[in-house]
Amino acid sequence: MSAREPQPVPFDEFMREALYGENGFYTRPDGGHAGRRGDFLTSPEVGPLFGAVIANYLDAEWARLGRPEQFTVVDAGAGPGTLARSILAAGPACADALDYVAVELSASQRERHPDGVTSLATMPTAPLDGVIIANELLDNLPFRLAVFDSGWREAYVAVDQSGAPSEMLSAPFDPPPAQLLMGAALGARVPLVEQAATFVEDARQLLRSGSLLIIDYGVPLTAELAMRPWREWLRTYRGNERGDHYLTAPGSQDITTDIPFDQLPEADAMRTQAQFLQRWGIDELVTEGKRVWEAQAARPGLEAMRMRSRISEAEALLDPSGLGNFLVAEWRA
Ligand SMILES: C[S@@+](CC[C@H](N)C(=O)[O-])C[C@H]1O[C@@H](n2cnc3c(N)ncnc32)[C@H](O)[C@@H]1O
Repeated sequence: MSAREPQPVPFDEFMREALYGENGFYTRPDGGHAGRRGDFLTSPEVGPLFGAVIANYLDAEWARLGRPEQFTVVDAGAGPGTLARSILAAGPACADALDYVAVELSASQRERHPDGVTSLATMPTAPLDGVIIANELLDNLPFRLAVFDSGWREAYVAVDQSGAPSEMLSAPFDPPPAQLLMGAALGARVPLVEQAATFVEDARQLLRSGSLLIIDYGVPLTAELAMRPWREWLRTYRGNERGDHYLTAPGSQDITTDIPFDQLPEADAMRTQAQFLQRWGIDELVTEGKRVWEAQAARPGLEAMRMRSRISEAEALLDPSGLGNFLVAEWRA
């Protein structure tokens, strides 16, 4: 009897195994992570300024809820806990009420979470009053892939007996999902981010009062991704550089997509990251940083150096061709 060939799986299953399976990019013991010495640089990893602005936002939400005695912040996909560190270091007014919950699936990253936070592998299930924030989580949730080839078809991944993956296309969708009603050029692709949409729905259900903040790279409309070369938005990373084709050496590289925000539930507010950070006081924090630096420039201490670095951090966080162009979607409860 010959061994049965494994069945082709939809792309999201391949991605789940490649990132979060037994030897997955995030789950293996020396797994991938954000940071200058890691695999990709996120806003919290640029420096403490991002967390200081988020702390302003948290204080405003705490005030909007009437300064409750317990104010929960869930940091979903918290990585090594850098955002938590910066928020706590900023000394927000809500600090005494703050119950900071860092949710991270990777055990090796959970070990790096700072003291003073509750570290969990999965999202809490009890209703809460506070803020759920997910910075660059949704782009890492497994997505399905649609490919236009005489109609929209679904990409499947088949693994041959030597373990090498290859892509196969399904018969055309019948009926096509709502976001695929447009035609496209031969070979066009789009991600179908159902797991990201489910994450948003579930997180909103958790909120008795407060808000959900999703920060990620992406575009307002799925159709924009169909018109762009797919290698621009379906990316891989390893060691702070772009990786190889997404089927190459599963588990050795991160796989990520720009988020088509129209596939998520409609938000109460949508801004670019630059607009959001300006709304919550980044310019004032930079001005304060310059003032402290100038007052101590002759004999700068560590604090003065930290204050001066706000200038270059702000440049990176507001960069219109980079982090500043990320989208921030907000849902209020
Ligand atoms: C791109 S990193 C972002 C880390 C951090 N938020 C930052 O901005 O630096 C995404 C993180 O989400 C984690 N992750 C992915 N799916 C998750 C899930 N379902 N629950 C919790 N964490 C998850 C990954 O392990 C990874 O550490």
